[in-house]
Amino acid sequence: SAIYRFPLVDVQGIPLMNSIAKNWSAVQAFRPDPSDVLISTYPKAGTTWTQEIVDLLLHNGDAEICRRAPIVLRIPFLELNSPPPIPAGLDLLKSVQPPRFMKTHLPIQLVPEGFWKNKCKIIYVARNAKDNLVSYFHFDQMDLTQPEPGPWDEYVQKFMKGKSWYDHVKGYWKEKEKRNILYLFYEDMKENPIIVKIMQYLDLSRSDDIIDKIVELTSFNVMKDNPMANYSFVPKAVFDQSISKFLRKGEVGDWINYFTPAQSQIFDEDYARQMADVDIPFHTKI
Ligand code: PPS
Repeated sequence: SAIYRFPLVDVQGIPLMNSIAKNWSAVQAFRPDPSDVLISTYPKAGTTWTQEIVDLLLHNGDAEICRRAPIVLRIPFLELNSPPPIPAGLDLLKSVQPPRFMKTHLPIQLVPEGFWKNKCKIIYVARNAKDNLVSYFHFDQMDLTQPEPGPWDEYVQKFMKGKSWYDHVKGYWKEKEKRNILYLFYEDMKENPIIVKIMQYLDLSRSDDIIDKIVELTSFNVMKDNPMANYSFVPKAVFDQSISKFLRKGEVGDWINYFTPAQSQIFDEDYARQMADVDIPFHTKI
């Protein structure tokens, strides 16, 4: 519908959703409590999965309690200020007592100062570039507030030229020791559930039984049918999941079904250049 497909807006050289850019000064002024925890990702890198794991850890693996509300109400999206029905992140956070858990997609240089001043915990999740891109391509088709993704080949070009994925994953990587960031990979969550690492980082202690339960409850198949995790509460005029599901495929290496060998080669060469200054151990076996 015509009212959507908002263009992105430049904020300090970073393209942000128009609703977030409008909200920018309020987001920057956000004052976290030292006990608040931020889950940070480039979009489509495993945010919702991590949010669900964290909420279940906080509630001892209680599936019923963790179905009390859609994930974005349980763990608000800090900078979001989009059309209804999802309330603005800052409004949701006002009504919660610390420790508050929230998610962000901001690159590290745009994270509000208060998080650094208060030495807040940050869980970062990175996903390999090609799968992240494929997931975002599908999301941009179904999220009618996002700009049109356009044809696949152009989308791949834009991803490489836009640099925002590269800056995002590198920015948090370079700061992770100094800022005590827990830096995780989507691919590890798939192969070896990373719940214990998150639990320890949050200074929580849960039994093996509870952890096993959380592994099961946060499996792709369970989450995709969980109305409180699969964004089915967002109306079709905003998220048209008949185009592509929010929990679409949940696989490692799905990029092979989209990149031609030539596109893959160009992408890899560009990747080597853009990532030359870091050694981030993305899984290479894909
Ligand atoms: S968002 O909009 O940024 O919050 O999206 P995000 O949750 O980061 O990314 C969505 C992708 O994560 C996949 N996903 C999962 N994969 C495996 N297991 C579980 N439990 C899971 N939950 C979400 C989801 O399917 C999207 O990836 P693709 O590749 O498109 O399927």
